[in-house]
Amino acid sequence: MIEGRGLTKIFASRGKNRITAVDGVDIRIDTGETLALVGESGCGKSTLSRLLLLLIPPTRGEVFFEGQPLTRLKEKELRSVRRKIQIVPQQPESALNPRWKIADSICEPYRIHPDALPPGRQIGEELDRLLGLVGLEPEQAARYPHQLSGGELQRAVIARAIALEPALVICDEPTSMLDVSTQAAIVRLLQTLQQKLGCALLFITHDQGLAHAIGNRTAVMFGGKIVEEGKDVLDRPLHPFTRRITSIPDSGSLSCPEPQEARAPGSCVYYQFCSEKTEKCLKSPEMQEYGGRRVSCHNVSHA
Ligand SMILES: Nc1ncnc2c1ncn2[C@@H]1O[C@H](COP(=O)(O)OP(=O)(O)OP(=O)(O)O)[C@@H](O)[C@H]1O
Ligand SMILES: [Mg+2]
Repeated sequence: MIEGRGLTKIFASRGKNRITAVDGVDIRIDTGETLALVGESGCGKSTLSRLLLLLIPPTRGEVFFEGQPLTRLKEKELRSVRRKIQIVPQQPESALNPRWKIADSICEPYRIHPDALPPGRQIGEELDRLLGLVGLEPEQAARYPHQLSGGELQRAVIARAIALEPALVICDEPTSMLDVSTQAAIVRLLQTLQQKLGCALLFITHDQGLAHAIGNRTAVMFGGKIVEEGKDVLDRPLHPFTRRITSIPDSGSLSCPEPQEARAPGSCVYYQFCSEKTEKCLKSPEMQEYGGRRVSCHNVSHA
């Protein structure tokens, strides 16, 4: 359904220091599936999601949505595709107008795209339907954002995201600002909605427990690259980075080990952290497939 090929983003804004935030990533999300994208802070998860939507232009690479190359569409055509992809961000406050009542924010998509309202339906009826789906009361929708809790705000953002029946909802750490029990409720809500609406989910998180709970497939990112991707990745990790993070019991959030030495130019992205590196690792490995699993490591067969 959506596919990124060779996606690369180099930011050049910090003086002369160029940051390769996303480095030659191939990613695919199929209709109705959940892909958990997991990786430590700063590894490029949000940048990759913004590239998939072309909210920022890739330095290299292409994005295809239902076979159409988005990178070659005109702005107007792109807008109609973007309608099918919605983002639920980390901070719901940032996605809601503080001066609007929650109900107005939830219904905004119907004002922008009046043709999206099912024939014969009033906006008020759709609002009630959406509130029911996300578990908000009409009284809550009559309030302003500062009068709701973080979990309630995130439900409102989700209601707006599903209003136009998107094919894909990108959730960028949607629960990281919430307490643990609210987190669990929002994750359950997203799973229920996905089953009811049949949309695909890209669930971005730095919490491997959450990734494990939500993903049909998991992609593990490190240093701008996807190092491992497939089913049961966190149960049967093959890449040294995935094995490291899954070996730390209850580690929750991911964090990077201390580098053991400087990274040689052109070497594997995990080179300076890897205790299993060999001479081959001085050359960045290609993604290899092992029975449905994709792993970017020269030494997988020894794993
Ligand atoms: N607009 C930008 N200009 C310059 N550098 C940027 C920009 N956006 C992101 N970066 C850098 O790109 C890298 C990847 O950032 P990104 O936000 O994609 O990481 P992330 O995996 O989403 O992290 P987090 O888990 O903290 O949200 C970081 O080093 C970040 O500082
Ligand atoms: Mg991010």
